[in-house]
Amino acid sequence: MAKKILITAALPYANGSIHLGHLAGAYLPADCYARFCRLTGSKTLFICGSDEYGTAIVHGAELLKRSPKEHVDIFHEMNKELFKKLNIEFDHYSRTTSKYHKPFVQEFFLQLLKNGFIETKESLQLYSESEDRFLADRFVIGTCPKCGFLEARGDECTKCGASFEATDLKNPKSKITGSPLTLKKTTHWFLKCDLFKEKLSNWLKGLDWKPNVKNFIEPYIQDLRPRAITRDMSWGVEVPLENSDGKVLYVWFDAPIGYISATKEFFAERGMPDEWKEYWFDKETKYVQFIGKDNIVFHAVIFPAMIMGQDYPYKLVDELPANEFLNLEGKKFSKSSGWYIDLADFMTRYPVDVIRYTLAANAPENQDSEFTFKDFQMRVNTELVGKFGNFIHRTLTFVWDRMDRTVPKCHALSDLDNEFLANIEAIAIEAKEAYSKFQLRKASSCIMTLSALANVYFDHKKPWILLRNKEALNELETTIACCLKAIKVLGLIAEPIMPGTCEKIFAMINCSQTNWDDCMKEEIEAGKQIKEPHTLFGKIEDSQIAEEVAKLEPAVHTKSEIGFEDFEKVDIRVGQILTAESVPKSSKLLKLEVDFGFEKRTIISGIAKHYQPEALQGKKVMAIVNFKPAKIMGIESRGMILSASDGTILELPLLASAPLGSEIG
Ligand code: 2FM
Ligand code: ZN
Repeated sequence: MAKKILITAALPYANGSIHLGHLAGAYLPADCYARFCRLTGSKTLFICGSDEYGTAIVHGAELLKRSPKEHVDIFHEMNKELFKKLNIEFDHYSRTTSKYHKPFVQEFFLQLLKNGFIETKESLQLYSESEDRFLADRFVIGTCPKCGFLEARGDECTKCGASFEATDLKNPKSKITGSPLTLKKTTHWFLKCDLFKEKLSNWLKGLDWKPNVKNFIEPYIQDLRPRAITRDMSWGVEVPLENSDGKVLYVWFDAPIGYISATKEFFAERGMPDEWKEYWFDKETKYVQFIGKDNIVFHAVIFPAMIMGQDYPYKLVDELPANEFLNLEGKKFSKSSGWYIDLADFMTRYPVDVIRYTLAANAPENQDSEFTFKDFQMRVNTELVGKFGNFIHRTLTFVWDRMDRTVPKCHALSDLDNEFLANIEAIAIEAKEAYSKFQLRKASSCIMTLSALANVYFDHKKPWILLRNKEALNELETTIACCLKAIKVLGLIAEPIMPGTCEKIFAMINCSQTNWDDCMKEEIEAGKQIKEPHTLFGKIEDSQIAEEVAKLEPAVHTKSEIGFEDFEKVDIRVGQILTAESVPKSSKLLKLEVDFGFEKRTIISGIAKHYQPEALQGKKVMAIVNFKPAKIMGIESRGMILSASDGTILELPLLASAPLGSEIG
């Protein structure tokens, strides 16, 4: 292990509370790794904080009629508190509105500018005269330039799937006030990312990162172009130049610099203003960034480029264990649609460590993974209660009740004892390696493997029978001494994942938690008294799980009522797909030739993500045939295919024998 380790976890936006997905993706793996590093005796610094600028925050605040500062103050405190309850032990949790951040970011910008890595460009952007401001994409709606849908978003049309620039919308309007927008000239600063291509490529070659990260960024680097790093708004770090009123730095420019400014703040507030350089300027520091997969580009490409453009020798990231996503019962977490677990509320019903363990055991390390309540119940009842807790409790109550609460001596070891001790040793080594490679699934499975082995050993040695035979006293004592050793090692290897539980374990066996290697070497002193054992976990009942699942049911809002006369206007017919092919430059659209019996038509349908074109040939579908023709990606579409979708899954309702052209009603 490196001597000095700097760990950062992606700064969460102070625009909502963190959920289980964020926890599994970045914060729990980071915390487990930090705890592991501290256990192995490395000098460890674990930094995080709130990301408090950006249009999403301005938008969130406006919706709730608060100022951005009021808004971020609320969520900064909320998330800080949540992290504390979750036992995520940052050395420092800062925020990007901290007084240390702004000047530091501005200095970063000025240095890039001085070194020739920033240029300005003029462009036309949407401007609201009534609000006297330029509007970012998310504040804009308008008519889709492709299909004519009246409420297309600023970046894509939710109806036909086309994506475009906000400036391409027809009749653009402010989403907030509804007032019309005009095009106005504006100047922005661009980071010339393309100038870093070669340096980034060479740097990347020397890194041994997970394929999901490397494969993703290699082509991205080849295609690097200048990127706008400023925005027309007032909430953010101001561009530190004359004549730049109303311009702030883009949130993704300032946020990662927050890792450095937060470190600076941490040490400055402890009276060591230059100590941050010990981490950031020292090549010997090992720097590990924990992020979710949606943050890869900024951490693996843009922020490193920004660092490469500085005069100072800032550390580049050494390890980037980016995780995939955690889904909830088969769907993405979504607070707005009710598919969500309120973490603060959840923690009032379940201990933090059972949540931490379940997430670690299911960590989305190499692919998206799932949190399901059934699995949660199984992890708790079968694994934590049935294996881990059971072994610890049966051993400790045996010592407490039958062995005068005293740690016994270890006498001559039998083959079985030796084998058990060797297994304990081997599993501890495996767990250590897993933690050092950020593999929480593997570390969790080591904990369970050792618990299961220990239970088998206990069953096999039957200490309750040995107790009846005076001549077996040495064997009994040795057996229990080996079991206590297993408990100590379990307490050690589970500590990064379940710190609260392991603290209790160490207290019960009356040992202090030291560092990893010492803990493996030192025996528990014979003759020492243990403390009264308590059960570590309780079972989760089926009824509790049923209640949790019921809470998840999303609120269903049906559209406003219509009469038969409205329905009658819609002409839905049976058609057969003759051919299907992808639409060039679109990942969502398919071009279908559909035979309605009375006529053959071309229909563009946004189903490409759900159906292979060849699977559609010959299928009988339902389509609205009196839909106004629309040009989509340059192709005239005459009709709309009906499909069923919950936002994630999409299925076409298919017909078997209805004749072509039949009316649906
Ligand atoms: O995706 C997010 O939640 C961002 N706020 C992460 C920022 S990480 C870093 F750059 F600060
Ligand atoms: Zn459209």
